[in-house]
Amino acid sequence: TELMAYAAALPKAELHLHIEGSLEPELMFKLAQRNKIELPYKSVEEIRSAYQFSNLQDFLDIYYQGMSVLQTEEDFFDLTMAYLNRVRADNVRHVEIFFDPQGHTARGVPFGTAIGGILTAFSLAKIQFGMTTKLIMCFLRHLPEEDAFDTLKQAEPWLDQISGVGLDSSEVGHPPSKFERVFARAKELGLKLVAHAGEEGPPEYVYEALDQLTIDRLDHGNRSLEDQALIERLVREEMTLTVCPLSNLKLCVVDDLTSHPIKRMLDLGLRATINSDDPSYFGGYMNENFKGIIDALDLSKDDVRTLCENSFRGSFLSDGEKRAQL
Ligand code: ADE
Ligand code: ZN
Repeated sequence: TELMAYAAALPKAELHLHIEGSLEPELMFKLAQRNKIELPYKSVEEIRSAYQFSNLQDFLDIYYQGMSVLQTEEDFFDLTMAYLNRVRADNVRHVEIFFDPQGHTARGVPFGTAIGGILTAFSLAKIQFGMTTKLIMCFLRHLPEEDAFDTLKQAEPWLDQISGVGLDSSEVGHPPSKFERVFARAKELGLKLVAHAGEEGPPEYVYEALDQLTIDRLDHGNRSLEDQALIERLVREEMTLTVCPLSNLKLCVVDDLTSHPIKRMLDLGLRATINSDDPSYFGGYMNENFKGIIDALDLSKDDVRTLCENSFRGSFLSDGEKRAQL
């Protein structure tokens, strides 16, 4: 459609992307062979057909298993380069990427191996495509806060190349308040703060992320819509929400894209953005997420432009860098 062509051509920033969730089955297979790792799958097709989830935990089990093929700095470089090269075609000009260091250090892969490969790809993308990048280190919320403190300690040599910390993995039963102290420490270190909240968890978790973690940006936030006072607060505080339509569909946060709340969020004045979350697992990168909502919802040209502008507004670029993109 004409609206989709318009969306595809607009410059965008991606603010909610787990780099380990961009691992395509083809690369997973190649890295398994290169590193002589046994996968429980015999072919690329078998990997793809295993990607059937009915909730977040089903997905996470497969996601953590998939990342076991990532062993060397070159693997992390190849993974990151493949993602950056792919979204360049979607007119993504700036990315703020999440990585899960504990998903690697727990397997004996050093922190420096993972971050080293990612940062080398960032440098090359700047030189080759003029793409700007930032890195956000996520703490796994199903693990103790003490482990998050250990991870923050391991990050010390790279702090000037890490923009912020986030909170991801199994949401229900692991509220933001569990990480209040480590987020306070990250803030003292000058890091930006984001957290997944209100994906499967209740509005109460969004309040905790705001009040106890003092987040700068809210990842997902869908269930905020259940609480009128919370909606009004998010609007008033101009909080950016990193919404992930195809992820919401695949993890059954919504029944189908025609019932996706993104249009309602925009109509309420929330600063929503479009993101892919884990594109290899959820069936699409940035523009496929736009296609999903454009086909399913009655979005206007203004809505589409607002979504793209919100992505730069809500980014951690400087005001000058934002002006250059808007
Ligand atoms: N890790 C990777 N993707 C995630 C998501 N959508 N929610 C929580 N943790 C994640
Ligand atoms: Zn996510």
